[in-house]
Amino acid sequence: MTKDVYSVGVLNPNLRVFDIVMATDYGTSYNSYIIKDEKTALVETCHARYFDEYIENIRQVVNPEEIDYIIMNHTEPDHSGALEMLLSLCPKAEIVCSRAASIYLKKISNREFPVHVATDGEALSLGEKELTFISAPLLHWPDSMFTYLASEKLLFTCDFLGAHYCEPRMKDTCITHPKAYQKAFLGYYQAIFSPFSKYVQAGLKKMRALDVELVCPSHGPTLCKNGLLNQAMADYDQWSAPVKKERLTVPVFYCSAYGYTEELAEEARRVLKQVHPQAEVELYNIIEHPMDSLALKLNSADAFLIGTPTINRDAVPPVWQLLSHVDAVNNVKKPVAVFGSYGWTGEGVPAVCQRLATLKFKVQGDGYRAVFKPNEQELRDFSAFVEEFAQSLK
Ligand code: FEO
Repeated sequence: MTKDVYSVGVLNPNLRVFDIVMATDYGTSYNSYIIKDEKTALVETCHARYFDEYIENIRQVVNPEEIDYIIMNHTEPDHSGALEMLLSLCPKAEIVCSRAASIYLKKISNREFPVHVATDGEALSLGEKELTFISAPLLHWPDSMFTYLASEKLLFTCDFLGAHYCEPRMKDTCITHPKAYQKAFLGYYQAIFSPFSKYVQAGLKKMRALDVELVCPSHGPTLCKNGLLNQAMADYDQWSAPVKKERLTVPVFYCSAYGYTEELAEEARRVLKQVHPQAEVELYNIIEHPMDSLALKLNSADAFLIGTPTINRDAVPPVWQLLSHVDAVNNVKKPVAVFGSYGWTGEGVPAVCQRLATLKFKVQGDGYRAVFKPNEQELRDFSAFVEEFAQSLK
């Protein structure tokens, strides 16, 4: 990367799903770096599964026995999984990390190790070079920090400004498929950092206070000032900026097998518009829209309703799929009401109510259920249910 900074991470171009839920159409990389000076520091480790390749990469640069410090900016096991094995080969290495990271690492590696808890702004001399540790909490775990190498104007950011993207030459100036990279960069931000937007703003502010010409993240290409760094920071700034809303937004999501739950959804919209004429109230049949766009609408709404029929004593899979995209950080106490038609036993609505309550939404009562096609009385009862919900939004 520079005269004394080496990239020793592992490329994984064939990975197609990361962390169970993230599609990685362009693979990923587990980046790790060695800084050589009078003392030798290793920044991040690697996923345990790729240890054999990883240790060979390290050996091309240093004998592992010579590593003095292992800097862990973040401890999710894609960066720390190899630590347990690595420590057996690095007898004098001291781990440097945040306090939260020191706690997590004990349970990830299940072994004893010397650890130095770095405080915000603390410096560590490697000889001629000096590392500075900068607290960066919730980017994207409580353990996160940045490490700054002033002599190279280089910042190690772990996941921050990373991407699940893999090419043989892992520098922004060498990217041969820029559109694919931009897609991966945006997807990574949305999946990992969008719930933590105010912390993203704080992280950018800390970066701007430094003289940074090169960012070395732990996934995807490095970013330099003459390449994509400024644009990448501007993108993060834009994506994490607070959204100013002009109107109350209350979407109605639903699935409907025979149109009965859909009838309730349409009645919900009518009542919501009656109580809040200026509000944005859109109906979304869940199976007719891309799940990621519905998730954005759900997570950015002021409140929402969700309707499900009951099939096999449960809510239907598209409803569960949408709820699996809930941002559990920023939706606490968001008002929600659940409704649906059922034929026999009607477990779908209470199951969804329970799930939303677990996610700490403010759920209206026990929801509303109609049997098969809602009759006039049921529609009146449902209207009263929705009106109570709508009034609570004033
Ligand atoms: Fe790449 Fe949060 O781990």
